[in-house]
Amino acid sequence: MKVDFVTSAGDTVTAEAGPGDNLLRVAQSAGLPLEGTCEGQMACSTCHVIVAPEWFDRLAPASEEEEDMLDLAAGVARTSRLSCQIDLDETLDGLTVRIPATSHDMRRF
Ligand code: FES
Repeated sequence: MKVDFVTSAGDTVTAEAGPGDNLLRVAQSAGLPLEGTCEGQMACSTCHVIVAPEWFDRLAPASEEEEDMLDLAAGVARTSRLSCQIDLDETLDGLTVRIPATSHDMRRF
């Protein structure tokens, strides 16, 4: 299965993924600038992505903790999610998410 990431520059990066893969890990393996500082503990929000509207309703809903973290994320949109909370399955083949423009990978500076 595939996941499309749209970078803040507007380029699309297509990553290969498998059922059970975590979206944050897939993004990082594809070289996308998502820090994921807390490694999925819902304590940062640096793994924030904006899900394409046509895909948003197909994801399992966000937990209350995730919603609370998203309130603190920079550049949130109606379809924002924490990528560390999204585990892929076959129904998500072709999932498209955008990397927010405000996401910086400090390791690159
Ligand atoms: S990696 Fe920290 S909230 Fe997702």
